[in-house]
Amino acid sequence: AEHSHRQVWTPEMFQKTMPERKPNAHKGNHGRGLVIGGNSEMPGSMAMTVSAALRTGAGLVTAATVKEVIPTIAAHCAEATYLALNDTDGYADGSSAIPFENFDAAVLGMGLGRRPEAAKIVQQAIKTRLPLIIDADGLFHLKGMLQHVKQREEPVVLTPHPGEMAMLLDIGVPELLKSPFSYSKRFAEEYHVYVVLKGRFTIVTTPEGNQTVSDAGNSGLAKGGTGDVLSGVTLAMIMQKQPIPEALNNACFVHGKSAELLTKETHSVYDLMATDVIKGIKKVYRTFQ
Ligand code: APR
Ligand code: MG
Repeated sequence: AEHSHRQVWTPEMFQKTMPERKPNAHKGNHGRGLVIGGNSEMPGSMAMTVSAALRTGAGLVTAATVKEVIPTIAAHCAEATYLALNDTDGYADGSSAIPFENFDAAVLGMGLGRRPEAAKIVQQAIKTRLPLIIDADGLFHLKGMLQHVKQREEPVVLTPHPGEMAMLLDIGVPELLKSPFSYSKRFAEEYHVYVVLKGRFTIVTTPEGNQTVSDAGNSGLAKGGTGDVLSGVTLAMIMQKQPIPEALNNACFVHGKSAELLTKETHSVYDLMATDVIKGIKKVYRTFQ
């Protein structure tokens, strides 16, 4: 297989690179994260991203979303705080700008929807100085803004599944899957972004073209919502002061191992749900730390 000569991220690498939690730490040491997305048709995705970020170790997490989505997040996660976005014409219209300067990193796109108004929020985010993770519908809106992404100095992480990656590349999924390493590398180098191409094996590519593979996880993850969980885990890893390549590989590790440990114990690959994967994060930390 094409991945055989790439470095696979191991449990030992996770253990070696995961920063210790200092005894005198306070919440500000573990990042103030912003999660932007959600619409009335997809309220659950934000809830999963926010909870996953907190379970993974983020210090503070704020959900920026439309009013209807806030109660759903609150029902799953009492620890989050909120910024209510304008919902009359989609997303923030510039006047109701998000105070990006109050945060250390942001993840955007889950449950955002594809209405043109939602593109404005992606545009605003790109102009900030924050490390950004862009997923799901955020990637759809990003497609027309890739030249702006290229000019950014702060890290941009894209977390596409093969369908989203093929959309960004203007090719078909079968074509992408013939050479996922070379397509990821070309794209990451051209736009100076990190690419986390998800699948049975997940390929992490840096803007310099360095590539590693995560083989953690199983078919229990092939269910809606698990991508939203990975986004939250990734946000938390990036905020815990690890170099970005390590943060991305460790995020895939925690996400995948959670599914593996759960299906060895209390679950099967059939019944596993994305919210279970969030609950399994604690098992990963207790097993591998
Ligand atoms: N083995 C290991 N890992 C897997 C497997 C598998 N067989 N199948 C999926 N995964 C992992 C992927 O690596 C990734 O981390 O599960 C996660 C799935 O992420 P997404 O594909 O982004 O799924 P998600 O966003 O939750 O749901 C699909 O994407 O195309 C849109 O609108 C569609 O709502 C749908 C959503
Ligand atoms: Mg997804």
